[in-house]
Amino acid sequence: MLIYLIGFMGCGKTSIAKRLANKLNFDFLDMDDMLEKEYHITISDLFLKYGEEVFRKLEQTVLQKTLSMVNTVISTGGGNPCFKNNMKTINDNGISIYLQLSPKMLIHRLENSKKPRPLIKKIPEEQRLKYIEELLKEREKFYLQATHIVDGANIEIPEIIKLLEI
Ligand code: S3P
Repeated sequence: MLIYLIGFMGCGKTSIAKRLANKLNFDFLDMDDMLEKEYHITISDLFLKYGEEVFRKLEQTVLQKTLSMVNTVISTGGGNPCFKNNMKTINDNGISIYLQLSPKMLIHRLENSKKPRPLIKKIPEEQRLKYIEELLKEREKFYLQATHIVDGANIEIPEIIKLLEI
């Protein structure tokens, strides 16, 4: 069984995926980490040297590679489900869980996060909330296709496990 955690940058996909995998005794995979290891480049350098389009192609390839895995909780990159038919690929092959958070909570969490986010970095600070609001609106068209939608502000791992019915 494959479980994909999806949602905007900073919504907590990686930490929830790790905890969920631990409880279920599943493997854990972070797709951004996998991409960096496979292609020997950091996401920041990838954006800088080759641009977003190349990044989107590589993250699609990484998604394809997850399809042959078994019993794994996968933390996707925030944009992954929103490009190249990836949301359909995810739902055709696994269960998806959208961690939903408001733009205000997201920006707060992003401000306190150590992970570099090239898409956010390039936006002047005073425009970031508006940027997040607009991008989230576009992306929710995809995120809301998830099998399950959970409130990212109040996540209880046992509640997620109940939803999964396993
Ligand atoms: C991106 C999200 C990032 C990473 C890349 C692009 C996006 O992952 O894949 O910087 O387009 O939303 P996180 O969601 O883990 O921040």
